[in-house]
Parts: sequence; C-alpha cells; structure tokens
Amino acid sequence: MHNGLTAVILAAGKSTRMKSDTPKVLHKICGKPVISYAIDLCLKLKIKHIILVVGCCKEKVLGYVRENYKGRDIEIALQKKLLGTADAVLSAKAKIRKSEKDLLVLYADQPLLSLGAARKILNEYNKAGVSCVLLTADLEGSQGYGRIIRDSKGRISEIREDKDLRKDEKDIKEVNAGSCIFKKEKLFSVINNIKPDNKKREYYLTEAIRLLRERGERISSVRAEDRTEVLGINCRLELVEIEKILTKRLINKFLAQGVTIKSPETTFINHGVKIGRDTVINPFVYIDSNVRIGKNCVIGPFSHIRGESVIKDNVVIGSFGELNRTCVGRNSRIKHFSYLGDAEIGNSVNIGAGTVTANFDGKNKNKTYIDDGAFIGSDTVLVAPVRVGRASITGAGCVVPKHKNVPAGKIVLGVPAKVYPVRDKFSTHNSK
Ligand code: UD1
Ligand code: CA
Repeated sequence: MHNGLTAVILAAGKSTRMKSDTPKVLHKICGKPVISYAIDLCLKLKIKHIILVVGCCKEKVLGYVRENYKGRDIEIALQKKLLGTADAVLSAKAKIRKSEKDLLVLYADQPLLSLGAARKILNEYNKAGVSCVLLTADLEGSQGYGRIIRDSKGRISEIREDKDLRKDEKDIKEVNAGSCIFKKEKLFSVINNIKPDNKKREYYLTEAIRLLRERGERISSVRAEDRTEVLGINCRLELVEIEKILTKRLINKFLAQGVTIKSPETTFINHGVKIGRDTVINPFVYIDSNVRIGKNCVIGPFSHIRGESVIKDNVVIGSFGELNRTCVGRNSRIKHFSYLGDAEIGNSVNIGAGTVTANFDGKNKNKTYIDDGAFIGSDTVLVAPVRVGRASITGAGCVVPKHKNVPAGKIVLGVPAKVYPVRDKFSTHNSK
C-alpha cells in the first residue's frame, strides 16, 4: 500500500514482571503469541519488510517466526543491551534498506492496536507532509504513559515520560499510544543526539519528537477512538485482561455475523475461528484457534473444540464433547459426552454417548474414519487406526480393535467387536 515503508517492531523488553521462562512476546492471547498481533497487523497493511527487535531470547523468537511466517520478509535485529526504545530502533538501522524511506514503529506489547488505527496513522502521514505522526489516546488513568505536551497553538512540542513529569503536567490525559511513523532520514538525523537524561537513564525514542520540533519539523497526531488499543502487557494480570478484551471483540464480531453466543461471559473463542450463520454456541464452550464451524450448528453447553477441527453444516455437538483435529460431516450428531481425536466423520453419522476414539497408541496419533450414515452405539471404543464403514452399526459398549475395520452396512458387537449379519434397513437415527 505504501512503497518504501518498513515496520520496526520493538520486542526486546525484559518482561521481568511476567516472571516467566518464556519471552513475553511468545505468551499467547486467544491462542496466538503476542508478537504475532503486531506482525499480522503489518501484513494486513501490506508492509513487505518487517524488522523485529529482540533481546536475550533471540533464538526462541527467531524459531517461532521461521516456523510460522515462511516466505515472509521478516528479519530479526538483536538489541544487545536494553538501553531504551531509541536504542532499540537504532539496533534495527543496519537492516533498513536504502529504498525504504519511512518507518512504522510498533511496540510489540500492545496487541490490541487495530487495523483501523494503524490505517489512520498512515493516512495522516500520507497527506500531511510531516516528519512524524503519533497515535495518541485520552486516558482517564494516564499514569505510566508518556504524556503529550502541546504548545499554546495546540501543536505537539514533546512527550514526557511518566516518571519525569513536572507537577503541572500530571493531569494531562492525552498519552503517547506508542505507535508512530517517521521519515527515516529525519529520525536518524536526531536519534544520535538523544541522551539518557531522565529518571530511568534510558534512551527514549519519544525524545526524538522534541529534537525534531527544535529543528522546525512538523509533528502530527491521530487519536485512537478506542482507549483499549493503547493497553500494554507487562504482567500476567494485564495478559489476561487483554485476552478478555480480545475475546469480547471476537464474540461481538460473531454476534454481528449472525451467530448466537448465548453466554459471552463463559464462551472462549481463539483467533482464526470461523462460524457460520444461525449456529448457536451454548454456555461454557471453548473453541481453539482456527476451528471452523458451519451454518446451523449447535455447540455445547460444556464442549471443547480443539486442534483446527472442522465442523460442517447442521451438526449438533451437545454437552461434554471434546473434538481434537477432527472433521465432522453435515447433519451428524455427537450429542453427549465423547472424545473424538484425529477422526474423519462423514455425513449423517450418529455418535452415541460415551464414544471414544483411542487415537494415541503411546507413540503415534492414529486416524479413525467413520463413514456416512454410520451409527456408533453408546460407549463404543474405536481403537485407531480403524474405519467404520458406511451405514454400519456398532453395538453399545463394544470395542473395535485397530485395523479391524467394520465393513459397510454391517453390525459389530462385543469386546473385541465381532461382525454380525447384514443390518436391517436403517435410516432415521438422526433425532434432533
Ligand atoms: C512507552 C513509551 C510511552 C508510551 C508507552 C505506551 C517510550 C520511551 N515510552 O513506554 O511514551 O506512553 O510506551 O505503551 O518509548 N523495548 C525494546 N528495547 C528497549 C526498551 C523497550 O525493544 O530497550 C520495547 C519493549 O519490549 C516494548 C516497547 O519497546 O515492546 C516499549 O517499551 P516499554 O519499556 O514497555 O515502554 P513504556 O514504559 O511502556
Ligand atoms: Ca509498555
């Protein structure tokens, strides 16, 4: 969208308050690592070259990025000593290419920043002919944030960090939200003049604003409409609070798309989930990342849909169902407590209460296939790998051993399951 624009994502912070062996940016929110929110935002903005500035945990972040963003132009820059945000940007300097003239700087610990706000920053930058555009927000409790200091004409003159505020500045509600865009050449013409003469003895990127203004450069700003966009993660409490806000955003999106979510307070939906119209999600349902659910389904109460499972249209998954890496075909019913892992379930299948696919043999995960129209009796155990043929029946309590496929149209009973003569006509087991 904007030629010559590079994103620099600052992610080197110590995250000591997380009290964790995992770097803060790899902690998950709605199933997705914190760092991915900033990266995905840049990709949505069609920014081709992204530089992540990381500290001590370079290898872990690099490993994650390599695995999840194959083929993307994402580079990692190491900030050797955490000397502050200006130093972090300087650590990325060597990786910024000659043709790249503009720098979008994002703080990795702010996953709630929306695409709309990021676009606002870029639009303002494109039209204003300025050296820098900042995102600001009006916060009632502005403590902890850098405050925007404006002159008598309302122009931004500098940003003062919380610890360095003068008495008369403490009530300023307009804060620096953290995301900003700079003309590269202007920023690098002042960045070396930034001194750590503040309470934290850090090299603050925000000091660049004052230095640019002193040179007569114009600074512009846009305000975030939603104050939650500014919130950052510094400890576990903030991690779960931000997850709550994101979950609410996701649920509101589904409600607007025609999905009924009966109890938003007890429903957990992770990122990348798709749900079709007129599906009802009952209370106490947990849906993992990238699960796909079709139209007119009923899910829950008390079910857990995991592992990128796919549920087609008109499916009922009642209470205490756990699905893991499982695909369920149209019009199938799994109405009472069941575990279905690594299973491919066809159309119009009925899964009786207590059915379990024993998918793990202690070493490998194995697949179970249940073909169209099969009727799985209550308490059946299907030891994978195994196939239950089309329109066949398993009797209550039977155990189907691995590789003992049930032929199409047959009945199996007992432990271990044995094949009985051809089943009678069997059609309408799908009671609603
Ligand atoms: C920063 C801003 C503040 C703003 C707030 C918004 C500065 C000096 N202050 O403060 O004006 O209101 O964000 O949330 O920029 N980082 C590095 N290397 C470092 C230090 C930090 O990569 O040496 C990264 C952190 O991982 C984080 C980001 O930069 O992602 C911001 O750093 P942080 O220390 O959290 O700044 P704040 O005090 O929140
Ligand atoms: Ca922060």
